[in-house]
Amino acid sequence: MPASTEDFLAAMRRFATGVAIVTTAHEGRVHGFTVNAFASVSADPPTVLICVNRIVTAHPLISTSQRFCVNVLALEQRELAKRFAGGEPRSRFEGVGYRIGPSGSPILEGTVAHVDCEVTEELTAGTHTIFLGTVLDAGWRDGAPLGYFNRGYRDFGIPAGSAT
Ligand SMILES: Cc1cc2nc3c(=O)[nH]c(=O)nc-3n(C[C@H](O)[C@H](O)[C@H](O)COP(=O)(O)O)c2cc1C
Repeated sequence: MPASTEDFLAAMRRFATGVAIVTTAHEGRVHGFTVNAFASVSADPPTVLICVNRIVTAHPLISTSQRFCVNVLALEQRELAKRFAGGEPRSRFEGVGYRIGPSGSPILEGTVAHVDCEVTEELTAGTHTIFLGTVLDAGWRDGAPLGYFNRGYRDFGIPAGSAT
């Protein structure tokens, strides 16, 4: 018998995470949405996973393009996290600086890290698809990360440069 949804969500809210924007591109248009279901899977070959609800606009686009980039947000990018977590998907990139990475997906400016990926596997799990991706390009800079805990964006107090 599985735990209740209420208990499950209450427990998972206690798991502190970073915040990222997953981007992809399809037929000349860029797309993106906020995630925290992101994890490192293997260093050899470099592999990550993201869990994407099948109702997310970019879900079929990632499935078709087989490409995505995970952009790990800096503390000062809280407004970007909010913007990419709702509202009109087409206007999310207005005023946002980015370059196109090897996968063809946007790599956002001002983040603390990115991993640009090619999908290697798709697994269905409940309402979500787990996309496993091989990392084609990884980048980072010193900077404090944006945190997420118990339904709120957080400053974990991690000093810039503490990862070096
Ligand atoms: C902090 C945070 C983390 C999120 N993590 C995920 C996630 O890992 N996977 C997911 O499918 N949606 C996640 N969401 C929800 C999507 O960002 C949201 O549904 C978004 O609007 C989907 O894009 P769309 O509007 O283009 O469909 C998260 C939202 C927030 C605020």
